[in-house]
Amino acid sequence: MVTRTLFALLVSSLALWGFVNAQPSPLERLPRQTIGDRAFRQYARVERTDGTYRQMYLDERSLEVFARTNTLPDGAFIVMKTYYSPGVESTNFTKSRANGRWLYGSFSPQRPNFDTRPDASCQGCHQTATSSVAGTFTLPMLRRAVRDGRVAVTTCNRGGRTPCDPATYER
Ligand code: HEC
Repeated sequence: MVTRTLFALLVSSLALWGFVNAQPSPLERLPRQTIGDRAFRQYARVERTDGTYRQMYLDERSLEVFARTNTLPDGAFIVMKTYYSPGVESTNFTKSRANGRWLYGSFSPQRPNFDTRPDASCQGCHQTATSSVAGTFTLPMLRRAVRDGRVAVTTCNRGGRTPCDPATYER
């Protein structure tokens, strides 16, 4: 009798252990995307009322670091895919973190390219990102995605690339 109870207990705790371990972590629930030869996860989507939208991806290694430390390490690489009409991918814009500052780049979807360099015109606008540290507009959305295991989505009532009200990225 005692043996049987112990056995039942053992089986059920093993089953519970297996169940808990099979649950994907919040990071694993973010859509995985291979770009070129690198692995990314999507963390955000910003929709504009003019019908355009942009999707943001962070490299997997930096995503793990960010989840632990709440900071983007050197080597962090963000890709932003732009869509001027639904489902039609246009230019990809990129930024990478090196020695505590941002370098910028871009490529066409057919030819991924991870070269980045200092760019005053990109930087000039990005440093106005007041809703976040480190000149990254969508950083509050990254925080939310990491916490919830879900792509953070927001809608902005301004057209083109005009920065949205900081609160837009906090929602
Ligand atoms: C006039 C302002 C402006 C300029 C210039 C600009 N951006 Fe941005 N960028 C934004 C805004 C605003 C966002 C946030 C997404 C949104 O609101 O649509 C963003 C987001 C990004 C992101 C996603 C990470 C983040 O910071 O949120 C990347 C990558 C990016 N831009 C790359 C570039 C590159 C590369 C250039 C230069 C070739 C550039 N941007 C120039 C306004 C600008």
